[in-house]
Amino acid sequence: MLTQEWLWVPKASLIAREAGARLREFFHQGVETEYKGDVDLVTVADRTSEKLIRERLGAAFPEHGIYGEEGTRERLGAEFRWYVDPLDGTTNFTHGFPQFCVSMGLEQRPAGLAPDQDGVMVAAIIYDPLRDELYAAERGRGARLNGKPMRVSRTPELAEALVGTGFPSSKRHDNPNVHFYQEFTLRSHGVRRAGSAALDLAFVAAGRLDAFWEFKLNPWDTAAGVLLVQEAGGQVTGFSGNSFRLDSREVLASNGLIHGELMALFDDMFAGRDLAPILTPQQFAARRAAREAKTS
Ligand code: IPD
Ligand code: CA
Ligand code: CA
Repeated sequence: MLTQEWLWVPKASLIAREAGARLREFFHQGVETEYKGDVDLVTVADRTSEKLIRERLGAAFPEHGIYGEEGTRERLGAEFRWYVDPLDGTTNFTHGFPQFCVSMGLEQRPAGLAPDQDGVMVAAIIYDPLRDELYAAERGRGARLNGKPMRVSRTPELAEALVGTGFPSSKRHDNPNVHFYQEFTLRSHGVRRAGSAALDLAFVAAGRLDAFWEFKLNPWDTAAGVLLVQEAGGQVTGFSGNSFRLDSREVLASNGLIHGELMALFDDMFAGRDLAPILTPQQFAARRAAREAKTS
C-alpha cells in the first residue's frame, strides 16, 4: 500500500491524533481564554498540545528541528524542520465553535540554505479531531484523507465556486480583505470564513472548497496545507502568481482550474478596476425609510 512507503506520515499521524485527542477533551470541558494581543487568543489547550507534539516529535525524529507557534524553537540548523500549529482555530475553540485542527508540516532544508530561504515541503499532516479526519501528504507520493486518495475539485470557473478566506487577529484596520470578501461574494457561489486557515487549505485539497486566500498568515498556518493542496493536484501562489514562500504571509490556493481567474481578479482589485458597486448602508436606510413611510 502506498501509505507504507511514506517516510514520515505514519509516525507523525499518530502524534497529530494524540494531540487532537487532548484538544477534543479540552474543547468539551471548556478552557479559559488569554490574550496574546488585540484579539489574538491562546489557551492551555494550545500550550499543552504544542508541548505534547514537541516531546513526541523529539522522540520520533530526534534529528529534526521544530518551529512551533507557541514558542518552540529547536534544532533550527537541522536538515529537516517541522512547522507546528498545535491548535489552528483558537478563537473558534474558545467559543465552542466546532472548527479547529492540529497542523504539522515538514520542510527539508539542504545544507548551505540561508536562514531566510525556503527549503522544500516534504510532508504534511492536518488532523481535525471533531470529525476524526486526518489529511496527509508527502511530496511526490500524493495526498490522502483518512487513507483514501484525495483530489481538488473540478469546478471550472469562479462563478460556480465555493471559496474560503480568513481575517487576521491583529492590526485589523490595516487589512483590506473585507473588500475582497465582498467582491468574491458577488462573483461566486459564496465565501466561507470558517476560522481555521489550515483546515481551509485541507478543504481545498479535499475538493470541499474550490479556493482559499488570506493576507497575513504564518508558516505554521500554511506549511502543511500548501503541500496538501499541491499533492492533491491544486495550485498555490501569492496573489499575483508569485511563488509561494513560507514567510510570504499571503496565500492563494485553488483547484488550479480557476487560478488564472482569481489572479486576474486580485490584479483588477489592486488596480481599482471593475469593482461591482453595492448599496451603501445609508442608501439602504433611505430606501427602507421610504418603504416604511409608504406602508404606515
Ligand atoms: C488563525 C486561524 C484563522 C486565521 C488567522 C490565524 P490561530 O490561527 O487560522 O483562520 O484567519 O489568521 O491566525 O491563531 O487560531 O492558530
Ligand atoms: Ca494558526
Ligand atoms: Ca494556533
